[in-house]
Amino acid sequence: MPSDMPKSYDAECASCHMAYPPGLLSDKSWQNVMGSLSKHFGTDASIEQKDQLEITNWLRKNAATRQKYSELAPENRITKTSWFVRKHDEIKADVWKRQSIKSPANCGACHSGAAEGIFSEKNVAVPAK
Ligand code: HEC
Ligand code: HEC
Repeated sequence: MPSDMPKSYDAECASCHMAYPPGLLSDKSWQNVMGSLSKHFGTDASIEQKDQLEITNWLRKNAATRQKYSELAPENRITKTSWFVRKHDEIKADVWKRQSIKSPANCGACHSGAAEGIFSEKNVAVPAK
């Protein structure tokens, strides 16, 4: 997680789910996410314009640059990118639905360092239930 994270990101984007690291989506994908907050995955995540600008600028500045992460994300989802699907292809469909996981977007259920942006293989454990 970049050290210059604005307080607004934690306040506005980490209440319903974890604060996703900006480097996991491309510039264009973040623009799409931030440009459609009133219709945000079935919920209204609209915020004040000042915060929206601050967060958008910071996300774009820190967006993915490495080619493997920088594709345009289908449905604006990290979890629909081809690198995500490839890295998680061993996880069976019913595993994602386990009580303690519920969704692929719930990174922290399996990656203990997710909130700090750490996804290394050493810090992964898929909960049994
Ligand atoms: C009111 C609740 C709420 C707020 C506030 C919210 N989100 Fe979300 N967000 C959701 C829900 C619900 C999903 C879908 C989660 C799922 O599929 O499990 C989601 C999904 C996402 C995803 C896609 C995750 C994936 O599947 O790859 C991104 C990216 C995202 N949010 C970014 C943001 C950003 C940036 C903000 C702050 C501007 C924000 N969210 C604020 C509810 C919220
Ligand atoms: C159901 C558990 C689970 C969830 C939820 C999950 N992952 Fe993973 N993730 C794994 C497993 C298992 C691996 C493969 C580890 C390995 O290569 O042995 C992995 C691998 C990865 C890798 C590649 C690590 C490497 O060093 O190659 C990244 C990056 C990653 N996940 C990011 C995410 C992100 C971001 C989210 C949330 C949007 C997420 N994961 C959600 C279980 C999960």
